[in-house]
Amino acid sequence: MAHGLLVSDHHLINDIYHFNLKAYVDLGLTTKVSLDEALKVIELDAFGDIIITLSQVGERDAGLEIIELLDKKGIEVPVIVVGEKSKVSNTSKVSTLPANLNIPLIVKRCAEILGITAQDMIAKSVPDFYPIPLTLLEAFSEAPCAVFVKTSRSTSNDDFVQVFEKGTSIKAKVSYYKEKGVSNLFIPSGLRLEVVNEASKIVMGLLDDPNLDASQRVKVTEQGYDIVGGLLGEAKEVTPQVVEISKKCMDSVKTIIQEVPRAKNLLMSMLENKTGYLYLHSVMGTYVARHIVNEISWGSEEHAEKLSFVFFFHDMFLAPVFARHPELQFEEDLVFHDSLSEREKEVVINHARLASEMVKTFPRCPMGADAIILQHHGTTNGMGFTLDYKDDISPLAKVLIISDAFVEELIRCKNEIRDPLLGDIVTLLHKRFTKHTYKKIINCLDSISF
Ligand SMILES: [Fe+2]
Ligand SMILES: [Fe+2]
Repeated sequence: MAHGLLVSDHHLINDIYHFNLKAYVDLGLTTKVSLDEALKVIELDAFGDIIITLSQVGERDAGLEIIELLDKKGIEVPVIVVGEKSKVSNTSKVSTLPANLNIPLIVKRCAEILGITAQDMIAKSVPDFYPIPLTLLEAFSEAPCAVFVKTSRSTSNDDFVQVFEKGTSIKAKVSYYKEKGVSNLFIPSGLRLEVVNEASKIVMGLLDDPNLDASQRVKVTEQGYDIVGGLLGEAKEVTPQVVEISKKCMDSVKTIIQEVPRAKNLLMSMLENKTGYLYLHSVMGTYVARHIVNEISWGSEEHAEKLSFVFFFHDMFLAPVFARHPELQFEEDLVFHDSLSEREKEVVINHARLASEMVKTFPRCPMGADAIILQHHGTTNGMGFTLDYKDDISPLAKVLIISDAFVEELIRCKNEIRDPLLGDIVTLLHKRFTKHTYKKIINCLDSISF
């Protein structure tokens, strides 16, 4: 086996290079995330057969500093520089690769340099991939199966490269990727049910833990939410497992809301945990809707329970769409997005109807919940989104619509780094919803603890 030194402060790249260079050219890498550490290794002549470095590490010209040190010591060793930001990039002193995650290219280059025949990457059968939210992977301490990362925005299967082998310990890494804004990794499609089942066992255990603190609860409940989304997206039917985990999650959402009794604080705590958009607006929506039915003259605890149920499921069929396009927010924008396939757009347009049909099969589904879900974008057939909110839908559907709109506005403020003001949001809602029945609901928001 050949050995080399990898100099990179990008942990995802490090994991990918490690795994793939080992697998395809049997190259073992020592990684240094700081340039000073790497230079020490070079001083000690412990770099092995090849040095691979990002052109810049921690804002310093890593390529240049490494070459200068090697020159000074009179050492000749092949150096691959990834990226073109170094003064030595594209010079004869190094072999330069573009700054993208083109794994076949680096494997080929290393194989040429080391005089090894690389195992053919294309010959390996390429499975279909299924996005797995990092929140779900966080439930595992070891990779439940081979885990892949997508290296470009295209949908070609060539762009998936493996990052973990089954059994690798991943807890710290997954949290790190999440911090860095990665939201999905990928697993072979054929294994998804198995993995989701395993995750669901772990998460159900955690949801029962009475000692969870608020932030842990927010996280674990999101895992449960993602599992339900994954299971429903897969089987399109309510299995006993879906029922069990949904119930636990709904109870857990109630606890979250009770523990963080102000709207803005709840939003902050969810943002701090980097929760996905769907889950965030589902929990926040529950909070707002419960407030409204507590406040409104005809409201009751039964309505509040019904709305909790409805908010948990109303957008569940969008889960796979958001999983594939984590950069997107706001449901209505989805329809116009070029990155969505026609099939995905169809799901978006029909998601209210699909969810409404699904909940009907849920044992002891609260009465009328299916109708509220059907109408949650203001249409009576559960298809599309209305711009003209009419009176012909159920009062609780109106509560849901107003709650959803309120939360959306709150998230917009946060996105634009504006401090949300309750009065402004309420004014905006009054402009958007002109019918008297909606206005009565909006008026209940004046007293929300904000
Ligand atoms: Fe929706
Ligand atoms: Fe929604």
